[in-house]
Amino acid sequence: MVFQQQLKIIINRDEIAKAVNRLAREINRDYQGKHPLLVSVLRGSFMFTADLIRQLDLPLELDFVRLSSYGTARESSGRVKVVQGTKTPVKDKDVLVVEDIVDTGITISFLLDYLRKKQPASLKVCTLTDKPSRRRVPVPIDYRGFTVPNKFIVGYGLDCDQRFRNLPDIYTLED
Ligand code: IMP
Ligand code: MG
Repeated sequence: MVFQQQLKIIINRDEIAKAVNRLAREINRDYQGKHPLLVSVLRGSFMFTADLIRQLDLPLELDFVRLSSYGTARESSGRVKVVQGTKTPVKDKDVLVVEDIVDTGITISFLLDYLRKKQPASLKVCTLTDKPSRRRVPVPIDYRGFTVPNKFIVGYGLDCDQRFRNLPDIYTLED
């Protein structure tokens, strides 16, 4: 039951800000002279995306996609569907996917296949958090904020059953 769950802070807002700043510096350096298209994965990465792009000194475009995986609150079913695709042309663009977390990798690999079919000039992945212990599909991660333990995390955009997205820090949710 939700009321019995305990929140334990694992990444505080200062650490998040530092990581976002570092990722932005890496992206600014690597995309010098380019006009990247950032594809942010709703809903979890909205906060990370908003903080990240404010530190990007690039003539970028921003689009959002929404994917569904018909799972329970904590487990994805493994079957992914694009609920809202890109609205911006992807062909010949330098596309950077912005994710909140790569867990099993199923969602992001599906999204990468979807985007690859649209023939971008390049395709890279930036994720705030990475939970490699749970990986079922290999995912090339180009920019990584944090590696997190095999625990369910919430806050800074990440939810459990749509709760906790508003928390400014990242917590583990313990039963
Ligand atoms: P996947 O298992 O890599 O396909 O992850 C699918 C999606 O599940 C992620 O984009 C998140 O939205 C969500 N997710 C996975 N692990 C967590 C977690 O620890 N906290 C909150 N959401 C998660
Ligand atoms: Mg997500």
